[in-house]
Amino acid sequence: MSTTTVVPMLDLARSLKALADPTRLRLISIVAASDGQEACACDLTAPVGLSQPTVSHHLKVLTEAGFLSRTQRGTWAHFAIVPGALESVSELITGLTGLTAAATAGITEQVREVYASAALQLTDLSAESGASCCVPTDLGNGDVFGSSLYTAGEGSEIPEEAFLASLGCGNPTAVADLRAGETVLDLGSGGGIDVLLSARRVGPTGFAYGLDMTDEMLALARANAAKAGATNIEFIKGQMEDIPLADASIDVIISNCVINLSADKNAVVAEMFRVLKPGGRLGISDVVAENHLSESDRQERGSLTGCIAGALSNEEYLEALAAAGFVGASVEYTHEVAAEMHGAIVKASKPAAQAGCC
Ligand SMILES: C[S@@+](CC[C@H](N)C(=O)[O-])C[C@H]1O[C@@H](n2cnc3c(N)ncnc32)[C@H](O)[C@@H]1O
Repeated sequence: MSTTTVVPMLDLARSLKALADPTRLRLISIVAASDGQEACACDLTAPVGLSQPTVSHHLKVLTEAGFLSRTQRGTWAHFAIVPGALESVSELITGLTGLTAAATAGITEQVREVYASAALQLTDLSAESGASCCVPTDLGNGDVFGSSLYTAGEGSEIPEEAFLASLGCGNPTAVADLRAGETVLDLGSGGGIDVLLSARRVGPTGFAYGLDMTDEMLALARANAAKAGATNIEFIKGQMEDIPLADASIDVIISNCVINLSADKNAVVAEMFRVLKPGGRLGISDVVAENHLSESDRQERGSLTGCIAGALSNEEYLEALAAAGFVGASVEYTHEVAAEMHGAIVKASKPAAQAGCC
């Protein structure tokens, strides 16, 4: 980071420290409301309900931080807003938001690169090639990621290439209880295994969408769908943080080992809620950390692109789902993928529409 970035951040930290007090915020807003007139310290004690020495202390902090100017007039000090001071804090906060957006974009790009390369290896399926993401070569245990989590019967339902392209940590179609005629959306559909299986479960009157942000994965999935001869399927390009589908258009969302990769999981959860129909449901496989693991504990156990470092804890998952409006949420561990981290089934529903009243 350059010194020019560090200096404004120090300024911002100092300014935020001065403002991080409800009394000081109240004093700033009272002085700002004086229409360019100075406010006498003698008039500031009553509105904040504190003694004169306490109010004087807060005014001194705000003056030293550069938000207020002070002029002594007889017995009393008078205060005014320093022109531009509040605007410059607001600009620094906007700069901080820009840095967060850049970090998010950086993580997404890193994930895309890894999965583009995985798709190319899988396209080239010389069997031994082994992709380097949520797959055995990265983690040294073929029993916890990939096609071994499906039954042989499921394998025989779809082209071998699609089956072997599995990079998941579970089998979401097995838990989503799909019914004929339903519309399903698979977030981060990869080589398409769960979309192909879903399309068979929902039958010709139903439909299965696969959403993925990586062109190479979409090409692999479309080739697999063509081999399967599936017609009730569409693979669409996009990010699960901004799903390119209409509100209330989906009956069931599935996803297999993808949400842990997102740099903005609250956006993913909010988008899932938006596109589900009232009464719609989630059947997700994902990696979930035990609640006591800190973020650095998770990072020690594996990489972000290996589906470990970015995993939510059990509690964090349930909180995010509840905050978005989901009900009946549950997280059930199926198998350990790293110490105290699990492949898990996450379920929840969007509340059914209320019967109209009045
Ligand atoms: C671990 S692989 C899982 C693929 C597939 N679900 C499976 O079980 O084989 C992750 C996939 O999610 C996609 N992906 C990762 N982050 C994404 C995002 N933010 N939006 C859409 N797709 C994403 C990647 O391109 C990749 O295809």
